[in-house]
Amino acid sequence: MHPLDDPETYRILDPGGMAQLVVRFPEMAEEIWQTAMRLRLPPADDATAIVVLGMGGSGVGGDLLQALLGPTFPVPVVVVKDRRIPAFVGPQTLLFACSHSGDTEETLEAYAAAKEAGAPAVVITSGGALAALAGQRGDPVVHLPAGLPPRAAVPYLFLPMVSALRRLTHMGELSGEWAEARGVLRGLVDELGPTARAEGNPAKRLAARLVGHLPAIYASSPGLAAVAYRWKCQFNENSKTLALWNTFPELNHNETVGWEDQAVARQIAVVLLREPEEDPAVARRVMATRDVAFAAAASVDEVRARGASRLARLLSLVLFGDFVSVYLALFRGVDPTPVAPIDEIKRRLAAS
Ligand code: PA5
Repeated sequence: MHPLDDPETYRILDPGGMAQLVVRFPEMAEEIWQTAMRLRLPPADDATAIVVLGMGGSGVGGDLLQALLGPTFPVPVVVVKDRRIPAFVGPQTLLFACSHSGDTEETLEAYAAAKEAGAPAVVITSGGALAALAGQRGDPVVHLPAGLPPRAAVPYLFLPMVSALRRLTHMGELSGEWAEARGVLRGLVDELGPTARAEGNPAKRLAARLVGHLPAIYASSPGLAAVAYRWKCQFNENSKTLALWNTFPELNHNETVGWEDQAVARQIAVVLLREPEEDPAVARRVMATRDVAFAAAASVDEVRARGASRLARLLSLVLFGDFVSVYLALFRGVDPTPVAPIDEIKRRLAAS
């Protein structure tokens, strides 16, 4: 039996159940979508900007929100992964402060600064100091289940923001998109999940090609950059491996030249993240780059987003990458769940 088709592999190498958390992605998404519909929102009809605070696994929701809304939304979405906030933040900024633990120092400091500046806020957390501060300030809180690795809680961290913004009527209607995305995600779990046999499972097959190589995740357009970055981070945290990421067309203006180092190029496995339909100019650009730059790469794979809506496309690529990163961890014989270096650095900084 293929090792990734064998339940024993998961029992031994994945005691934290990361593969099952990825399987639960659509279920988590549905649960939080319904919860967020009942969320009391701060008055924000006159918001001139949306700012999302969050680090690491709790910051990815902001990246996805920016990718989802950026092309069409009437006000900018700015993601802050730092303790400092931009100078424009004020009473007309709608703030989302996201931290799974609620104890991340950068997010706590930035939230406090934004509140001092008068920003109305929604807090998304499982508890900690952030929940306590939100209580003191009277800010609405989306309460997340505790005990999850933050990166596995991405539906919980991302979708409340989508749902909340959807209800600010002048800011766009997204409920139809969610209905489509839900179906796409459920179909992907059937196709890519642990019970789908390796021979017909594109996520297991892709993970097999990445073993022993440095993955390079390239988005075919800036609209998919957030997803390429998510793949990179999931390879880091779940698979315990370094990874590159970048986006077209920018990479054609710098990184492409680095591929002239053939000795390194031979160690790199390229994954191109693409839209189902693309502008022919994008397709020509990707093709030219494959020919000119990636000729020596260990492998070049393409993963296409699924669905018609932007929400489905983004989430389908996130889910695909999450499965690949867990399968790569299992091929490498590492437990996907622990993030020892993150914990150790937090411990040292807290003690200093
Ligand atoms: O994946 C992780 O554990 C990290 O990237 C955390 O998400 C990050 O350190 C921030 O912590 P929190 O999500 O609790 O705010």
